[in-house]
Amino acid sequence: MGSVGAKEVPQLIGPDGRRIDGRQLDELRPLRIVAGALHRADGSAFVEWGANKVMAAVYGPREVHPRHLQQNNKAIVQCRYNMAAFSVDERKRPGLDRRSQEISKVIAEAFESVIFAEEYPRTSIDIYIEVLQANAGTRCAGLVAASVALADAGIPMVDLLPAVAVGKIGGQIALDLRKEEDNFGEADLPMALVPQSGRLVLLQMEGHMNREELSRSLDLGVVGCRKIYDVMKQALRDRYSVTPAAPAPSVPTEAPA
Ligand code: CDP
Repeated sequence: MGSVGAKEVPQLIGPDGRRIDGRQLDELRPLRIVAGALHRADGSAFVEWGANKVMAAVYGPREVHPRHLQQNNKAIVQCRYNMAAFSVDERKRPGLDRRSQEISKVIAEAFESVIFAEEYPRTSIDIYIEVLQANAGTRCAGLVAASVALADAGIPMVDLLPAVAVGKIGGQIALDLRKEEDNFGEADLPMALVPQSGRLVLLQMEGHMNREELSRSLDLGVVGCRKIYDVMKQALRDRYSVTPAAPAPSVPTEAPA
């Protein structure tokens, strides 16, 4: 344990090179995705990612509210990311604070770049992300959940958007930070990838890293996103693939002589 002022700083990387939860630097937390978890939404998904629990619901294309936001040549994409009051250790004041507004905006912009919005002029595609339990990386978990929910709603997109936060902890570049690593690490770099093209549609950074560390972080994040992409596709397959019915037992057409 080190200390910053009165605050105890946990040792983020042990002598064996492993992290506080035993993970290697390039290891993701366990990820489980259930597509179509809600019945009333047009599309939905529930994501359990480490200790994060996030629900996403998608509605639309539907009438635009408020009306003046309507665009004649395309659908608008609206997102509301919200953290439940009980989702964090210290109760969060309910409602949209500046952080939630910022996250809602960057997520909506990420999806604007992959949704074929021109196919649905004068409509709105509304994404709701509810963080039920938070342990860092919730904007990425929200993006992953919303991607699967959009696909579940049948919204045409270039691709799903896997997302993950990479960071610098104890001087090392690590994939998928948990809360202690996010709080006490040197840098946090959430990103979202279009897997087909390799284009990043969300990239933010808090903290400091040099150019070489940034480059390694991006490489590690891209590899992580591709693994997450596989889990996302599998969630959709689990929901939609129909197992072929077992062949009916053959019935003899003629009675044996
Ligand atoms: O969740 P994400 O990493 O995308 O965003 P962040 O702003 O870097 O927040 C990191 C973590 O801090 C969150 O996931 C929560 O676990 C925690 N947090 C909190 O405890 N109380 C808040 N009001 C906001 C965040």
